Amino acid sequence: MIETRELTRRYGDFTAVDRLTFSVEPGTVLGFLGPNGAGKSTTMKMLTGFLPPTSGTAMIHGHDIRSDSLAARRLIGYLPEGAPLYGELSVLRFLEFAAGTRGFQGREAIARVEQVIDRLELGEVRHQTIETLSKGFKRRVGLAQAILSDPPVLILDEPTDGLDPNQKQQVRRLIRDMAPDKIIVISTHILEEVDALCSRAMIIAHGRLLADDTPAALLARSRYARAVSLATPDLQAAASALSGLDEAGEVEIRRGLVTVFPSGKGDLFRAVSALAEQSAWPVERVQLEAGRMDDVFRTITQQTAREEAA
Ligand SMILES: Nc1ncnc2c1ncn2[C@@H]1O[C@H](COP(=O)(O)OP(=O)(O)O)[C@@H](O)[C@H]1O
Ligand SMILES: [Mg+2]
Repeated sequence: MIETRELTRRYGDFTAVDRLTFSVEPGTVLGFLGPNGAGKSTTMKMLTGFLPPTSGTAMIHGHDIRSDSLAARRLIGYLPEGAPLYGELSVLRFLEFAAGTRGFQGREAIARVEQVIDRLELGEVRHQTIETLSKGFKRRVGLAQAILSDPPVLILDEPTDGLDPNQKQQVRRLIRDMAPDKIIVISTHILEEVDALCSRAMIIAHGRLLADDTPAALLARSRYARAVSLATPDLQAAASALSGLDEAGEVEIRRGLVTVFPSGKGDLFRAVSALAEQSAWPVERVQLEAGRMDDVFRTITQQTAREEAA
């Protein structure tokens, strides 16, 4: 388990991370979701023992990151933000060095290094120095280093940052494969990543925890959840007819769709489908909306901004 208690970091009188309290169980891929400057990296640096908290603490499988830091760190693989250190080393040398610091020697070290080179497809750059690699390769070298000892906890700061779409898919697959018996914490500002990868998401802004739920439950908070959208050539005509339905609340036209929000009465999807059929509109598509992550995110962060201003 990871358990944090009022984890806080200040820089002067600026509070970067503000009393975060949460716990995470094995088998979880937890996403820290938040805009730039939200405090995601600072939180990760504290969890991994790279930055002391100003107050509060965290336990990694029972080891306090402040008083038992070495034992805590041994359980963690960490992908820091940015490029790996030791840019002047070759990929192979860097990974051998990482294996050494993790206590692997001889054959075992070589086997570990070869395994991660293979898993992250680094074979073609193994003799190249890290500083000469593209951003995507640098990121994967950092990931290789993080998973080398197969630790029970992985803290990955923006693991897919700088990767092309294929590499993103590959890294997401790798994370999913490792997920069942580990705790994996990733940070991201990409909304779709949370939906694609995480079993749980925490929305963080201004160092504060604003929401903590499954991606599906967060999506259900979207005003689009259970709305019905329709693609048809005459959007205006459809919109005015649809707004007459008992089941319909607001109606909006956006991006070539007319979207009807539920009034709370009756079955909106059935009512919309029935009206479309009765009116003989040429309908290209009717869909029940699952909710939109960007909408949830905007609502939750704006709500907090309003509360702060009040
Ligand atoms: N060493 C530092 N000194 C002063 N402020 C810092 C320092 N490191 C981070 N910050 C500030 O703390 C806030 C959170 O940063 P960070 O944790 O990197 O956010 P995120 O990873 O969510 O983008 C930002 O406003 C950042 O400018
Ligand atoms: Mg960051």
